[in-house]
Amino acid sequence: MNTNRLSPAIEKALSDQMNKEIHASHTFLSYGIWADDKGYQGIANFLYRHAQEERNHSIKFMEYVLNRGGKPKVAAIPAPPADPKTLTACFDGIFKHEVDNTTAIYKIVDLSLQEKDWATWNFMQWFVQEQIEEETLAQNLIDKLKIAGGDRATDESLFTLDKSLKESPDDAPLAQNATGANP
Ligand SMILES: [Fe+2]
Ligand SMILES: [Fe+2]
Repeated sequence: MNTNRLSPAIEKALSDQMNKEIHASHTFLSYGIWADDKGYQGIANFLYRHAQEERNHSIKFMEYVLNRGGKPKVAAIPAPPADPKTLTACFDGIFKHEVDNTTAIYKIVDLSLQEKDWATWNFMQWFVQEQIEEETLAQNLIDKLKIAGGDRATDESLFTLDKSLKESPDDAPLAQNATGANP
């Protein structure tokens, strides 16, 4: 008896996304190594933590496909992008990577809607919300660097930025939790 509750198209899309999240993990690991090598240990720490989060996302896709009776397939992971030339390029690259990932997530939501696979649609809503957070985090990085002076930032302001990122939380607050007293 076929107990697979996923259509072949959805199973493949989810399996591909499992691999895509590992690619994101490698990308942030690679950027983290670049930052560490440049002496930005706080930024590196932030990126290493983020790499771990992306791996966790990959595991969620793996577990979901298995739970629904499918079998995810581990594929070759493309090489991470080349090292950025500047911190601005590094943070812009992170933002772009998150937006690309959001596009991939939306495609799966779209597919689940077309197929009326409400279980997958429901599962994917966690990722829709997570991507809002991840994009906000990346936007915050860009904003902080801009305030510090961008590529013309002084060593002192970069020192402070680097230090603040070491301690910065992994999650950005969601608008849904905002109140008048705590916007
Ligand atoms: Fe992710
Ligand atoms: Fe992400």
